Amino acid sequence: VVFILSISTKLFSLQCVVGPKAMNQCQSKPWLRKTKATELGQWWQKKVNFCSRAALEAQGSCLNNKYSEGYPGRRYYGGAEVVDQIELLCQKRALEAFDLDPVLWGVNVQPYSGSPANFAAYTAVLNPHDRIMGLDLPDGGHLTHGYMSDTKRISATSIYFESMPYKLNPATGLIDYDQLEMTARLFRPKLIIAGTSAYARLIDYARIKKVQTAYLLADMAHISGLVAAKAVPSPFEHADMVTTTTHKSLRGARAGLIFYRKGVRSVDKKGKEIHYDLEDRVNFSVFPSLQGGPHNHAIAGVAVALKQAQTPMFREYISQVMRNAKAMADALLSKGYTLVSGGTENHLVLVDLRPKGIDGARAERVLELVSITANKNTCPGDKSALAPGGLRLGAPALTSRQFKEADFVQVVEFMDEGFKIALDAKKKTGKLADFKNFLLEDPETVARMADLRKRVEAFARPFPMPGFNDH
Ligand SMILES: *Cc1c(COP(=O)(O)O)cnc(C)c1O
Ligand SMILES: *[C@@H]1O[C@H](CO)[C@@H](O)[C@H](O)[C@H]1NC(C)=O
Repeated sequence: VVFILSISTKLFSLQCVVGPKAMNQCQSKPWLRKTKATELGQWWQKKVNFCSRAALEAQGSCLNNKYSEGYPGRRYYGGAEVVDQIELLCQKRALEAFDLDPVLWGVNVQPYSGSPANFAAYTAVLNPHDRIMGLDLPDGGHLTHGYMSDTKRISATSIYFESMPYKLNPATGLIDYDQLEMTARLFRPKLIIAGTSAYARLIDYARIKKVQTAYLLADMAHISGLVAAKAVPSPFEHADMVTTTTHKSLRGARAGLIFYRKGVRSVDKKGKEIHYDLEDRVNFSVFPSLQGGPHNHAIAGVAVALKQAQTPMFREYISQVMRNAKAMADALLSKGYTLVSGGTENHLVLVDLRPKGIDGARAERVLELVSITANKNTCPGDKSALAPGGLRLGAPALTSRQFKEADFVQVVEFMDEGFKIALDAKKKTGKLADFKNFLLEDPETVARMADLRKRVEAFARPFPMPGFNDH
């Protein structure tokens, strides 16, 4: 997935935090210029997104140097006046960006990234060995949703908690909500996670909420930009907690957020109100249970991005992301490719290459060699995560580079050529390692890829690259 922002990001610089000095230092970094000149083509698909220059400046600032364990107004260190303001500003903007009433929702902006945010959210409401359910990793869920293999507990979320996955319906490629409900009745999880890293459809939060369980946690890491722009249904209506990364469709500096409900949770039989106690629990879980000092530079970068996410330009960006994903899906379908779930309703497309006789690993390698970075991905029914059947293709990054629908159609043309090279090479080789050597050694294949790569790079080069000097 790749990202781009077309707005003049300097407008949003946190003036109090980052002065012109930091900016000049950034501009004098020679590796940035080198990257721009020579490696543009490689910055294609699997960049999740391009953070704006203003957010990067805040993140690259002297805020890196300040220790401030605790929360605003209650730090274990002196001299925290400025970082207190920044953290409070970031909280305020996080609530605003998702249209949340501060009476009903709070947010913790200290998690270092998405995975620590999830572990902290679980730790807030679960005891060791309590039960969780999440979408299985091969079906589009995330590692931190309790992933374990047949033989090994992989994610710490399956080591410290007992996890039971739910799955896609292999026929439709959609989440099998009926199976989820049936399993939940038997397993009685204390927490169900609704969120995906590779799923092209909308999530029915209300349907999952109906499975009466202690807590519904929505992990909107991939789609938080889409939620902020109101391009997909908001999980906040149904969830008790919402976690997210800030660097995917939200296009910010790398970090994580945990939103938690406040106020009345339920009313008991005698009419007495039962209140949420998530604020205390989440605060305590993030610090001191799991983290030490917050990354104040990251919090500042997120604060900048959250302001940008509230602009009309960001909404226009997200709506372009959705149009581009659709254009990419349509172009792939018109070329006879199979999409998991048959299409897309969000920012990404999952293409199942098995019917074409190739797999995601081989396709990914050929694309890599022609300067298109894509991401191999499991498709329903796949046995191996190392040789999965498909690719995950995201629109956010290239849209941040100002690609429009017609440009995505061209991207599909390039990928189609790459897939054909992969298929021809596969016919002449055996194992994956053999295939990879062949790509580098067979003169005809080398020449075909060199030609394609030249055209890919010539096509990509004129598009702007957010984060660099002129953006
Ligand atoms: C990316 C992602 C995460 C983890 O984020 P990191 O910042 O990589 O730790 C968690 N959940 C989902 C759904 C994700 O897509
Ligand atoms: C939890 O942390 C938030 C964010 O700093 C703060 O506003 C709130 O007062 C804290 N709540 C409790 C109960 O400690």
